[in-house]
Amino acid sequence: MKKRYKSNEPLSQNRNLLRWVEKMADLCQPARIHWVDGSQAEADQLYAEMVEKGTLVKLNEQLWPGCYYARSDASDVARVEDRTFICSQSKEAAGPNNNWENPFEMRRKLRGMFTGCMSGRTMYVLPFSMGPVGSPMAQLGVELTDSPYVVVNMRIMARIGLPVFAEIDRGQQRVVPCVHSVGAPLGKSKKDVPWPCNPEKYIVHFPESREIWSYGSGYGGNALLGKKCFALRIASNMARDDGWMAEHMLILGVEDPQGEKTYVAAAFPSACGKTNFAMLVPPPELAQQGWKVTTLGDDIAWIKPDADGRLHAINPEAGFFGVAPGTSAETNPNAMVSLSRNTIFTNVALTPEGGVWWEGMTKTPPPRLTDWQGNPWTPEIAQRTGAKAAHPNSRFTAPASQCPTIDADWEKPTGVPISAIVFGGRRAATIPLVYQAFNWSSGVYIGATMGSEMTAAAAGTVGKVRRDPMAMLPFCGYHMGDYFRHWISMQKKISETPRIFHVNWFRKDADGKFLWPGFGENMRVLKWIVQRARVRAQAKETPIGWMPRYEDIDWNGLDFSKERFEELQSFDRQAWRAEVMAHEELFLDLHDRLPKELIYERELLICRM
Ligand code: OXD
Ligand code: MN
Repeated sequence: MKKRYKSNEPLSQNRNLLRWVEKMADLCQPARIHWVDGSQAEADQLYAEMVEKGTLVKLNEQLWPGCYYARSDASDVARVEDRTFICSQSKEAAGPNNNWENPFEMRRKLRGMFTGCMSGRTMYVLPFSMGPVGSPMAQLGVELTDSPYVVVNMRIMARIGLPVFAEIDRGQQRVVPCVHSVGAPLGKSKKDVPWPCNPEKYIVHFPESREIWSYGSGYGGNALLGKKCFALRIASNMARDDGWMAEHMLILGVEDPQGEKTYVAAAFPSACGKTNFAMLVPPPELAQQGWKVTTLGDDIAWIKPDADGRLHAINPEAGFFGVAPGTSAETNPNAMVSLSRNTIFTNVALTPEGGVWWEGMTKTPPPRLTDWQGNPWTPEIAQRTGAKAAHPNSRFTAPASQCPTIDADWEKPTGVPISAIVFGGRRAATIPLVYQAFNWSSGVYIGATMGSEMTAAAAGTVGKVRRDPMAMLPFCGYHMGDYFRHWISMQKKISETPRIFHVNWFRKDADGKFLWPGFGENMRVLKWIVQRARVRAQAKETPIGWMPRYEDIDWNGLDFSKERFEELQSFDRQAWRAEVMAHEELFLDLHDRLPKELIYERELLICRM
């Protein structure tokens, strides 16, 4: 075949990989191929090229060492759930929770879209490992992308480059092929824009052949294919087939005053403070007792039974792709340190000194900001136009290793033992601060029926609740009913089931005020959770599960009355009737594949009520 492109020396000997790269190059017709070695020198070169082109701004080296700033196209700012497809052989397998298209039809469409889509651009051959390279729990992928922005972001979010090519060349593991294009071929003039993308977007998964194709977007989960596409949508299929779990969960460690570590995984829907919880700073009184929290991950957990049947988890990622607005020295000091260097900021605001700012970073914004769309921004302008300085979904891409509380075992190849699983949501009413499931199947019921208010409810009113089972609704790559069945069936593979809990930091009183102070005080709840997991704390039985009594929580240093705690924990029979009816609505959508255990759990709950 006549080569239309230049290439650096291929960095792999794997014949399947070489052949696939050639085939994809013939389809996408890039001007060049670059095999990514993952080195600092290579990253520096890519950063320099993107600064030259206007895609990136190098931030002030004194204030923000090693940091860069990107502004995306205004039409390419978030994941596009309505353009995300699970193309399994049958529509039923994808379930009502996913968009489905016939895989043959979709392949035909993709062939059309990808023909010549990289013309004039470089196709990067980016090998990545989700999980530490060589870990028995890690999975390998290769992303072909025409976006250097994707390469430098993936370099933070995953393990990439030569060690991964070596792993691929060992030939012991299946490699997930991922093809990504911003969908903006360069014409004869070669004139480019800082953020190329295409109004037409397709984020496509083929679960049976374990392939990902992404077209038209350069942003976040649409383009960094290791994250939501691989580590959740494709991995959830792998996990179901191979007896493990790919979950939208943070992982943290709690060290008690005796130095004993208990690991917890927690699933909250977006905008419920997962990153903050993963990096929780205990209040001084508990810290003085010797309680510490360590961080392993803020978004995704892969959980697998070890040879003895104990669930162990790894964070498949190597960085944090965190929402910037609301992150501050008060709300999350550990995140602020994590992102203080070697970080890529996207769609935040720029200061005249070459620094960054976003809503909530400081009380008063610095003067003379440039907003995420490149316009001058002041609070006065914002008042007039409603413009935000930073886009609400603006992000920082920061190395996890820079987190001050990163756990010593965060890269342990066999993962850490998980003793507790926590579900949570944002609920103004009905749901108590914390309760514990009676057992595994009632815990699965709690996770399956969890919900969160879609937008902040007006004072005193209850917002519309969206059911988001296990926070996986946009991320489960197959039928949600089968996913619940998989959760139920995991119990048979586990020798010691983790205890399951539900938390709600957001319950409000009759005046619409939050009942719980949140932030570091959540440590008090977390302490009860790990003590329960260790069978060292008391609780009382209620219709929905085990609840702490007032005296079971450590109140050292917090003035919180018993009356207020009881309001926070109260079980309102009337409200729970409505809650259970809402569960039924979700179950109706999934009825043909709903495991009978969940129907029984619902019946038991009704009986107890
Ligand atoms: C994320 C998300 O970006 O859940 O992590 O949307
Ligand atoms: Mn997430």
